[in-house]
Amino acid sequence: MAMILIGFMGSGKSTVAKALGERLGLDVLELDDEINELSGKTIPEIFAEEGEAGFRKYEYSVLLAACENDGIISTGGGIVTYDDSYEIIRNTDRKVIFLNAAFDSLYERISDDNTRPLASRPREQVKVLYDSRIERYRAAADQEVDTACGLEDTVEAILSPTR
Ligand code: S3P
Repeated sequence: MAMILIGFMGSGKSTVAKALGERLGLDVLELDDEINELSGKTIPEIFAEEGEAGFRKYEYSVLLAACENDGIISTGGGIVTYDDSYEIIRNTDRKVIFLNAAFDSLYERISDDNTRPLASRPREQVKVLYDSRIERYRAAADQEVDTACGLEDTVEAILSPTR
C-alpha cells in the first residue's frame, strides 16, 4: 500500500513512516534526505544560499522521482505550500495521510532544532505558518490522524482506518 505522509514539522512523519515501512515491508523515502543528496547541501545551507524558493524546487523534483517507486514517502512540512507539489499530492493514487497534533506539542518538538530554518522564527510566526497550511493538508489527505495517541495507535489507525 503506497502512501504519502504529510503534516507540519514535528508531527512525527519520519517516525511513523519508518514504523509503517517495517510493518508493511515497504521502502521509506525521506524527501529531506533526498534533497540533501540531490543538492549536496544541508537544508540550512540551501535556505541560506538559495532561499526557500530554491528549496521548494529541489523538493518538487525529489517528490516527482519518489512517485516513480512504490513505498512510503515521508515529506517535509512545507511541501503543500508549493503549488506543483501540492497538485501532485492532491491527485496521487497513493493513500495520503495527514499527521496532526496540537500546535503546542508540535512547537515543543521543533523549537530547539537548528536543522529546521523555518522553526527558528518566533513562536507566533510559526503558528501563522501552521494555520496557513492546515487547509491544504486537509484538502490533500485521505485520512487525518492525531498523533497524540502515540506511535502504535497512530500506525494502527492508518492500517485499520475503520476501527
Ligand atoms: C519544512 C519542513 C522540514 C524541511 C524544511 C522545511 C517546512 O521538514 O523540509 O526545513 O517548510 O515546514 P520536516 O517537516 O520533516 O521538519
